[in-house]
Amino acid sequence: MSTQNVSDLVHPIRFVERRKLLQSAAAVAAAGVLPVAAASAPKKITVVTGSTHRRGASFLLTDEFIRGAKEVGAEIYRFDAAFKRVTACSGCDHCGLGSSPCVYRDDMFELNPHLIDCDLVVLSTPLYYFGFSAQLKLVIDRFYAINSQLHSPRQTVLLAAAWNNNDWTYTALESHYETLVRYMGWTDMGRVVATDSGTRGMCESTEFPQMAYELGKKVGTR
Ligand SMILES: Cc1cc2nc3c(=O)[nH]c(=O)nc-3n(C[C@H](O)[C@H](O)[C@H](O)COP(=O)(O)O)c2cc1C
Repeated sequence: MSTQNVSDLVHPIRFVERRKLLQSAAAVAAAGVLPVAAASAPKKITVVTGSTHRRGASFLLTDEFIRGAKEVGAEIYRFDAAFKRVTACSGCDHCGLGSSPCVYRDDMFELNPHLIDCDLVVLSTPLYYFGFSAQLKLVIDRFYAINSQLHSPRQTVLLAAAWNNNDWTYTALESHYETLVRYMGWTDMGRVVATDSGTRGMCESTEFPQMAYELGKKVGTR
């Protein structure tokens, strides 16, 4: 019977792979070129929306943001929460904040890899009683099951549409957003919080769709 243990078997393989890697890196350096794939990899953006109105104001902002980001080469994954199956977190703690999968096998399992493996998360919402819509908040609460994986440097953007235009219309939403971003260790890259935008038509006659487009262009590259 062999006296080799598992680590003896694995080490030579690792050594060969490492040597190959060093050889190819040396070849790249000798040729004086940068690894092209790494330099030109598109920015991965995951967009999560919270409106039920496909022809609504926050979708208009979202569409314009995506148009701008795509123009500069970003790779977009979009999750329209209102049209997906997302169960409310029940706080059972089975997930242990990211050590086990959530007990609810719903469409969050489609979204989660795109949240974990992205450079920038866009949160898009209609303003509902001064906060995120319930549809988006369901998704945010389900971050809990992948909390440890999401808790790392990532960029973020807030898009929102509201009927009113008081100077305090967005105080609570922005405060919540800022606190979430701070806790997650993310970096806020910009916000378009549209006032006088109760409907798509209202929003269309404001400067906010253009701002969303410009923001998409600005943050759509690495
Ligand atoms: C349940 C509910 C709550 C709302 N709360 C607010 C609010 O607190 N402040 C505000 O300005 N508009 C409020 N609105 C209006 C929406 O924010 C506004 O119509 C928004 O444009 C809808 O975005 P959407 O077209 O993308 O769905 C509320 C609308 C609903 C249905």
